[in-house]
Amino acid sequence: MQYQEYLAAAQAIKNKLPGGEWPLGIILGSGLGELGERLERAAAVPYGDIPGFRCSGAPGHKGRLLAGELAGRRVLCMQGRLHLYEGYSPAEVTFPVRVLRLLGVRTLIVTNAAGGIHTDFAVGDVMVIRDHINLMGGNPLAGLYLPEFGERFFDMGEAYAPALRALAHEAAAGQGLALREGVYCAVMGPSYETPAEIRAFRALGADAVGMSTVPEVIAARGCGMRVLGLSLITNMAAGVTGAALSGEEVLETGRRKAREMEALVAGIVGKLN
Ligand code: HPA
Repeated sequence: MQYQEYLAAAQAIKNKLPGGEWPLGIILGSGLGELGERLERAAAVPYGDIPGFRCSGAPGHKGRLLAGELAGRRVLCMQGRLHLYEGYSPAEVTFPVRVLRLLGVRTLIVTNAAGGIHTDFAVGDVMVIRDHINLMGGNPLAGLYLPEFGERFFDMGEAYAPALRALAHEAAAGQGLALREGVYCAVMGPSYETPAEIRAFRALGADAVGMSTVPEVIAARGCGMRVLGLSLITNMAAGVTGAALSGEEVLETGRRKAREMEALVAGIVGKLN
């Protein structure tokens, strides 16, 4: 994608929204899209109306950009994201993140559904992402280099901002919610993992596994955003309990815990500086 394509998408969005800056972005993961309904004074732009945006066909993803207020802050919210397993290129998956940057986003909150690898985790837990392991087999920024979006080579040492992680724990404590913290391992999907893969990921230091987030976080860090990642543990990963995995369980846990995740995200947003 050329820089002009990002600019055209940002301009098309600006034309449909009230003026001013949008310093905060949120990407809603599988089954967590309902948070978008909590936005006040919300305007919606379907992805289909934005040049360069592709439409997610994944279950539990609505495919529109919402602009509104959450906990008194102006926020752009992606209700639905793209996944590599849908056949989209890494550039297409991360295109919206860079467009958010052009619209003023400096802080990005990314949510996802993930399988629990750590044996202390339980279905329904929320994990703050401390770090990630990219096993997707590619990097979204490989290929054409666009200096407008930052350095070619950049640090991923504190990809998930310690200050935002602390804020998440503070907000959760205020709501009586116990937060986990751990390492998110990203795979391409769409098949779930084998038990042997999960044992290998655990040995590598992973606490949860999922099929998203890492491309967006790499793109966001590349253009200088600070990032917070939250994983809802929708199921225990393959072989951890012996139960078979299903997409339905993932969506069902999402639905069941949606209110809690929404309250947590709103609580965090309310504390942002
Ligand atoms: N594996 C990969 N992705 C996932 C899982 C899982 O167990 N649960 C939700 N997304």
